[in-house]
Amino acid sequence: MKALKTPCILIHVALILLCLRTQICYGQDYPDAESPPAPPAPPPGQDLCNGIFLTYNFMGRELLYPHLKNASAQAWAFKAMATVVNAGSEELKAWKLFVGFRHREILVSATGATIIDGGDFPAAVGNGTTFVGNPQADLKTAIETAGDYPQISAQIEIKGTQFGVKPPTIPMPKSLKLVNDGYLCPAAKNDGT
Ligand SMILES: *[C@@H]1O[C@H](CO)[C@@H](O)[C@H](O)[C@H]1NC(C)=O
Ligand SMILES: *[C@@H]1O[C@H](CO)[C@@H](O)[C@H](O)[C@H]1NC(C)=O
Repeated sequence: MKALKTPCILIHVALILLCLRTQICYGQDYPDAESPPAPPAPPPGQDLCNGIFLTYNFMGRELLYPHLKNASAQAWAFKAMATVVNAGSEELKAWKLFVGFRHREILVSATGATIIDGGDFPAAVGNGTTFVGNPQADLKTAIETAGDYPQISAQIEIKGTQFGVKPPTIPMPKSLKLVNDGYLCPAAKNDGT
C-alpha cells in the first residue's frame, strides 16, 4: 500500500470527504454527525486537495402532512446536494458514492444519478444507498479538460422524505464514501459552527 499523503480535512457546512487513490478503501462513520445550524460557508476548499472530493449539503426541509405530536414520527420533505469532484490525476471511471442515510429516508428523486441498490423511486434508503452517475458516470481530470468543471465533477440533487428531523438540528447522513475499488477515504468532517 502506498503511503498516504497528508489528508485534506476541511470544515464546511456539509459532510465532506477526500478519497485518495491507493490500494484499499476504508469507510468512515460519523457518530456525532448531527450538527447545529451553521451560517453559509464559503465553497469547500477542494483546491487544497488532490484526490476525489465528496460533499453532502443539506439544503432544507418542509413539514409534511399529517402533522403529528410525536416528533420522531413526523415526516419532513428535504432537499440535499451531493457532489463528487475529481481533483486527482487519474480519470474516475463509474463513480459510486455511498451516502449513509439514517432518518428513514425515502428518496423521491435524484437528478444526475441513479441508485444501484434501490430500484425505482420512491426508494426506502434509511440504511444508506449508493449513487452512480447518470448520465455522467465518469469524471475526467482537470488536466485532460483544462479544468472544465462540468466534466470533472458530478452533482446529485436529492429530494425525499425523512422522519423525526425537527429543526434546528441539521439531519446529516452518518457516512459518506467513495466505494470504487482502489480509493482510500481517510477522513471526513462534519461542519461545526
Ligand atoms: C413515536 O414515533 C416513533 C417512531 O414512529 C415510535 O417508535 C414511538 O413508539 C412513538 N411514540 C409514541 C408515544 O407514540
Ligand atoms: C435497515 O436495516 C434493518 C436491519 O437490517 C432492517 O430491518 C430494515 O428493514 C432496513 N431498512 C431499510 C429501509 O432498508
